[in-house]
Amino acid sequence: MTRTLNAAVIGVGAMGANHARVFARMPTTNLVAVADIDPVVCDRIARTYKANAYSDYREMLAREAIDVISIALPTHLHCQAALETMARGIHTFVEKPLADSVANARVMIEASLRYGVVLAVGHIERYNPAVIALKQRLDNGQLGRIYQIHARRIGPFPPRVQDVGVVFDLATHELNIMEYLTGTGIRSIAAEVMCVDNHNGHEDLLSAIVRFDDGIVGMLDINWLTPTKIRQLSVLGEHGMFLVNYLTQELWFYENRSAMDRWESLAASGPSEGSVIKYELERVEPLRAELEAFVDAALHGSNGLVNGEEGLRAVFLAEQILQAGHEHRMITLPPYRPVLAPIRLPGSHDPGR
Ligand SMILES: NC(=O)c1ccc[n+]([C@@H]2O[C@H](COP(=O)([O-])OP(=O)(O)OC[C@H]3O[C@@H](n4cnc5c(N)ncnc54)[C@H](O)[C@@H]3O)[C@@H](O)[C@H]2O)c1
Repeated sequence: MTRTLNAAVIGVGAMGANHARVFARMPTTNLVAVADIDPVVCDRIARTYKANAYSDYREMLAREAIDVISIALPTHLHCQAALETMARGIHTFVEKPLADSVANARVMIEASLRYGVVLAVGHIERYNPAVIALKQRLDNGQLGRIYQIHARRIGPFPPRVQDVGVVFDLATHELNIMEYLTGTGIRSIAAEVMCVDNHNGHEDLLSAIVRFDDGIVGMLDINWLTPTKIRQLSVLGEHGMFLVNYLTQELWFYENRSAMDRWESLAASGPSEGSVIKYELERVEPLRAELEAFVDAALHGSNGLVNGEEGLRAVFLAEQILQAGHEHRMITLPPYRPVLAPIRLPGSHDPGR
């Protein structure tokens, strides 16, 4: 019989409140406590899920017997809190980005190894059914050679984010997804950043072009300046173009008819419009899938998990993009083989062509 783990959450604002809800409802976890310096927020969440409330997370760690914990604090506080939870032998899930610097991300990974605990990172889009289905179709060769991968993550500014800009807050999602989908590492970065409104000096717009090891071109269009929220990714290749809408969890395929029809392709000089397919996908809550994978790893040591190494890589790429953007120059990176967690949702299967 599977053991029920005692769970807790540090920081129950916008994201942490959802972690508390999921832990309270999962059959493998029992939400015992939450901590937040905002007493109103903390008491509300604690009362809703019948957990103990603490204004000081250190007091919570000292008093409660906790097996697994989520840290959903502002990004600059992730490292310190995670070092304290891991030192107590608690399996630790940290919201993305893993840390506010490569140096801090490294210290966190070292601590997880030293204390023998799971360190998971909240790259939630990896658990989006549209991304998982796209990855399976790319690996099955449906697109043929990949030419370009293009991410748009744009929308209004969420005022609660005060400690980082769009590169750490938003681009880290896409950097992780791009290396995951292509299976190759980013080798060069050209970027421009802008600070239009004053976010403590942090950028609110990023336009970047990256190049992957095998020549694939990546484009990132990221901002907090657009008056509508768009979360989209397209992958263009030999046989057409995939389009993901992260928000609606939809996956589309725009077929290149010339590439599909051998005779026509001999005559044609370029792509032509073919069928447009919208795949039927079962919608899931990515956070639930993500925390299930985390708890599973805590219980059984499974590897279907976005781990500290992947979190570190996203933070490293974010730092490089900021440098390229601020210095207006192209940066070349050493070769890198992405560490790819084989993520599957419960009941998912390999799609056919
Ligand atoms: N995976 C995703 O898609 C996603 C989405 C949103 C946010 N996030 C990440 O989650 C983290 C939190 O973001 P958010 O939007 O929930 O922010 P938020 O401001 O809504 O929540 C942060 C909470 O931490 C509390 N807090 C601050 N300092 C504290 C301390 N010292 N001790 C205890 N509590 C403290 C605040 O009172 C607040 O309630 C960030 O790292 C962010 O990048 C991830």
